[in-house]
Amino acid sequence: MNEAMPTRYRSTVAGILRGTDIGREVRLVGWVHRRRDLGGLVFIDLRDRSGMVQVSFDPEWSPPEVVKAARGLGPEDVIQVTGTVAVRPGGNVNTDLPTGEIEIRSVSLEIISAAEALPIPVYRTPDEELPAEDLRLRYRYLDLRRPELQRNLMIRNRAARSVRDYLADEGFIEIETPMLTRRTPEGARDYLVPSRVHPGEFYALPQSPQLYKQLLMVSGFDRYFQITRCLRDEDLRADRQPEFTQIDAEMAFVDEEDVMRVGEGMVAALWHDVLGVDLPLPMRRITYSDAMARYASDKPDLRYDLEIRDVTDVLQGAEFRIFEATRGTPQRIRGMRIPGGAALSRRELDGLQDVAKRAGGAGALWVKRTEEGFSGQFAKALDGQTAEAFVGRTGLEPGDLFVAVVGPFRTSHPDLPVEHSGAEGTTEEPNLEPVLDELRRHLAARMDLIDPDAHAWLWVTEFPLFDWDADAERLVAAHHPFTMPHPDDIAAIMAATDNGGTISTTDARRLYEQGLRSRAYDAVYNGSEMASGSVRIHESSLQQRIFHALGMADDEVASKFGFLLEAFRFGAPPHAGFAFGFDRLAMLLVGAPSLRDVIAFPKTTAARALFEGAPSPIAEAELRDLHIRLPEPDSM
Ligand code: AMO
Repeated sequence: MNEAMPTRYRSTVAGILRGTDIGREVRLVGWVHRRRDLGGLVFIDLRDRSGMVQVSFDPEWSPPEVVKAARGLGPEDVIQVTGTVAVRPGGNVNTDLPTGEIEIRSVSLEIISAAEALPIPVYRTPDEELPAEDLRLRYRYLDLRRPELQRNLMIRNRAARSVRDYLADEGFIEIETPMLTRRTPEGARDYLVPSRVHPGEFYALPQSPQLYKQLLMVSGFDRYFQITRCLRDEDLRADRQPEFTQIDAEMAFVDEEDVMRVGEGMVAALWHDVLGVDLPLPMRRITYSDAMARYASDKPDLRYDLEIRDVTDVLQGAEFRIFEATRGTPQRIRGMRIPGGAALSRRELDGLQDVAKRAGGAGALWVKRTEEGFSGQFAKALDGQTAEAFVGRTGLEPGDLFVAVVGPFRTSHPDLPVEHSGAEGTTEEPNLEPVLDELRRHLAARMDLIDPDAHAWLWVTEFPLFDWDADAERLVAAHHPFTMPHPDDIAAIMAATDNGGTISTTDARRLYEQGLRSRAYDAVYNGSEMASGSVRIHESSLQQRIFHALGMADDEVASKFGFLLEAFRFGAPPHAGFAFGFDRLAMLLVGAPSLRDVIAFPKTTAARALFEGAPSPIAEAELRDLHIRLPEPDSM
């Protein structure tokens, strides 16, 4: 790469100058990051994309008019200077700056473009807070001048290059797919675009290139990828944007293992190229049901242990009202041992109630084991044999804490005898896995169990095939409807859908309760979902059965997905793929708390673009061209 980027305006760039350049004549252009006036002397930090360098204006080497002009410079003026690279005098080396050893002794100065008073500063003192985010988003082009954001976007660029290089080496080819399309069911709402030439008809912006990449496999492209924009009209959070970028890939003639190998190889290349960290491969794999049983989460944070134990059979017999109430019901008592947790104060233990409630639970129960015995909420349930069995099951040692919740769970647990192990949680009552998950994350942070240098990547496999939509009383695809069911579970789908039409609510409910598995997988990093993927269905007949199970009648299937079913009839290869959230990866690589820190022009949490002002009202005449009439303002 030609880092110096010489042009008519400059001979080199600021950030790459070093002690080895001493004596060089240079011409630089850039922004006035900061000006310091020391009596006769003026210092400027000159900033360009490559970094910053100190420029000194001193009557000893700068003509008087140049010193005078330097004194009049304001923040963010664009200037051009010529001068000589020299060692900083008197041991004034700035070790925080790569160019800190040197300065430019300026002999000329030209103001190329003056800046008016700025609405937000670019230079800040180390303890100066950032201006309000709305203001920064309104003046995003200025905020982007901040060295932190410059660095973030450059790391993002480095990451994209690393991904392209890795996938190209693995034989993937990059193919673009349409933005004006028809909806693919990824679970969010679509952004719609009205057609001017076809009154009353709309394009959908793609939630992902899912169907196109499958069709590319039918076309024989074998290994496809794309770093592409996806658009979803959904409620926003720190890790969600309405438009975001996926690293989308698909492969033909593969099983999930082949796909996971490529995905984890890509991540390892990224971590190596960007962070200099070598991740151990292969990544750990854990099935969904195992993850739910042992960590109460489908995206477990494995930087720490805190495994869930089921103590139902141990505690159910005790004389303790909440435990007694579980007898003969599908309710379970599950919790985790917190090593050293007996040191937590009463107030912190009381605070666990709020943590549990935040996640939708009724509360949490705790007991401490000390040298003297048990104390705490269910200590009186632990006498004699019960205590022994409890310690045997949980490994609780003096100084430890056990935190439990009682109620229905979605998944079985290996601690339980087989006759109790079915997935018996109901959808009417909220299941308690999220409560244990929240408690686990909270207590790990509180007890300082998180190794800041850990990179806990894993694949969670065999996700459920269906979820239950309790309001509509029907099955919904847990990943998307193109996901291949687990081979052992196909027979159940065939049996339930053999009448050739949509299935009844009872049959659908029965299918849900069977807990059917799919060949879908997620990549998880330090407790966050980073990617999803699956082996796909490539047979029309099975795909049609799935649509029937999801409550779609033949005419609906034909109008929405006829093209796909047809394509599968003309020689479709088995295929599978994944999509990584590229913004999420970039956010981790730069260590930022929000996706907005790694997207050049992000939306606010209210899905607005503040600098250019979008969305915005459209003139009536334009709407008329699009065949759209808005309701009267008072009815909106
Ligand atoms: P999925 O919907 O799980 O799968 O998306 C894949 C990954 O994209 C990221 N992601 C987001 N990032 C930022 N903002 C959002 N609103 C957002 N939504 C999702 C996440 C997620 O893991 N077509 C399938 C993939 C496949 O089956 O191949 C899909 O889109 O990191």
